[in-house]
Amino acid sequence: MLSVRNLVKIYPGPVPALRGVDLEVPTGMFGLLGPNGAGKSTLMKVIAGLLEPTSGEVRLDGEDVLSDPDALHRRLGYLPQDFGFYPNLSGRDMLAYLLELKGVDAPGGRKKLVEELLERVNLTFAAKRKVKGYSGGMKQRLGIAQAIAGNPRLIIVDEPTAGLDPEERHRFYRILAELATERTVLLSTHIVEDVAVLCPRFVVISQGRIVAGTTPTEAKDKLRGRIFEGSAGGDLDEMRSRFWVTQAVLVEGRNLVRIFAPDGRAPEGFAEVEPTLEDAYMTLVGNGRPAGLAVSGAEVGVDSRVELVGTDPSEGRES
Ligand SMILES: Nc1ncnc2c1ncn2[C@@H]1O[C@H](COP(=O)(O)OP(=O)(O)OP(=O)(O)O)[C@@H](O)[C@H]1O
Ligand SMILES: [Mg+2]
Repeated sequence: MLSVRNLVKIYPGPVPALRGVDLEVPTGMFGLLGPNGAGKSTLMKVIAGLLEPTSGEVRLDGEDVLSDPDALHRRLGYLPQDFGFYPNLSGRDMLAYLLELKGVDAPGGRKKLVEELLERVNLTFAAKRKVKGYSGGMKQRLGIAQAIAGNPRLIIVDEPTAGLDPEERHRFYRILAELATERTVLLSTHIVEDVAVLCPRFVVISQGRIVAGTTPTEAKDKLRGRIFEGSAGGDLDEMRSRFWVTQAVLVEGRNLVRIFAPDGRAPEGFAEVEPTLEDAYMTLVGNGRPAGLAVSGAEVGVDSRVELVGTDPSEGRES
């Protein structure tokens, strides 16, 4: 179990990136969902022991991560948001080099481990190819291979699916899901689909604060009866100024919008629809809310203090 208490990080400036984050992460896949600049990478770097927080506490299975980063290192795999490779090395050599840097060894030797890891992430076929010829998905899989070397208890992956095409993304999902069967995987993302596909539990982070801790099912249930769909006519801006628009798409040249109505009253000509996780995300981070619309946190399902201790991670699994 990973546990974060009242974590604050203020960069010079001062830029407050984390404003008191509390988090309990159980075994399995756990999502950290938030927009650009929310503080996801900052949080992950602090948890990985690579960045010193201004204040707060991080514990892994009870041990203080911040006071003993070395002990943590052996139990942690980390895939940063921008992973640097040497483009002219082959995938195999790159991985061997990374394992050497990490100081990971295996009973059968490092060479054997490299082959096993390549196999695990479906890269054996490209082991000899230079990394610069790898697709985005292949690079991310190589990144995962170094993260899982040494069989860590905790794996942290920072926006690993950004930039992957749908096919690569789904291949990558399978690898992550398999990893999470036996350990904790903390996944940060701004892509709602990542959470819908992978995460039985997740938190939403916005402006350095955790604004909600929930399950995909619960997040959608809270909006039932309050999401409506209809046509915005020609004036989307006017619609946005009066209603909380969670999605606006063009369909056959028409503006089709989804609206969150906190009081459950449908706008004229709109029909109630099933809430999606995208609707839930938009309401939880406050995106699309018109300036004049006052809504309390409780109305959108925001807990003032997120407490996930002792919850059964299988509870919220999507069927
Ligand atoms: N080294 C730094 N010095 C100063 N400010 C920083 C530094 N790194 C991040 N920030 C700021 O801290 C805030 C949080 O940044 P962070 O990178 O953690 O967000 P993020 O959620 O990972 O965003 P993204 O989705 O764009 O990766 C932002 O306002 C960012 O500009
Ligand atoms: Mg980031």
